[in-house]
Amino acid sequence: MAILKVAQLGHPILRTVSRQLTGDEIASPGFQQFCDDLLDTMLEYDGVGLAAPQVHVPLRVVVLSLTDERGPEFFINPEITVLSETTRRTWEGCLSVEGLRGLVERPDHVRVSAHDRDGARKALEIRGFGAVVLQHERDHLDGVIYVDRILPRSLVFTPEFRRWGPPEEYDDEAYEAEAEAEAEAEAEDASFLREIPS
Ligand code: NI
Repeated sequence: MAILKVAQLGHPILRTVSRQLTGDEIASPGFQQFCDDLLDTMLEYDGVGLAAPQVHVPLRVVVLSLTDERGPEFFINPEITVLSETTRRTWEGCLSVEGLRGLVERPDHVRVSAHDRDGARKALEIRGFGAVVLQHERDHLDGVIYVDRILPRSLVFTPEFRRWGPPEEYDDEAYEAEAEAEAEAEAEDASFLREIPS
């Protein structure tokens, strides 16, 4: 096991477009060791997701937890398709942008197809927070960081965010009501994540 060094915003590796892996590469012992290290690094730093370029490896691999029940899983060569026009706003952070939070609006219903770390194909339909994490990590593979997508004037330091809450323009009743409605809809919709038979 090894904890890998996480690149911080400004390091050119975070802006590179990562390359796809072949089936043979996925099966190789070296790559399997890398998967273990990527996961250990995510857990060490309490991340909900981590992409390979964040640890200086420009390959199309991410590890993330879609739900607590599923736990961490790998998405290799992931392809995301947006399934509906509805969006969701989330206060995102990133292990490569230490100490900051910003509000990002993304599609909240997507389909992902990818290889698992054993090389098997998988496809999932997902809504809500998991869909957000997936898109955040997938962005890293194209050199895109969440700060490129934040709503104006929403960037804040985490301790200040905890102390003062969201900036005034993002703290209105409309937004809270919307967030509440979303949370309720999510709680009701137990099937927000489903496997698509391939
Ligand atoms: Ni990130």
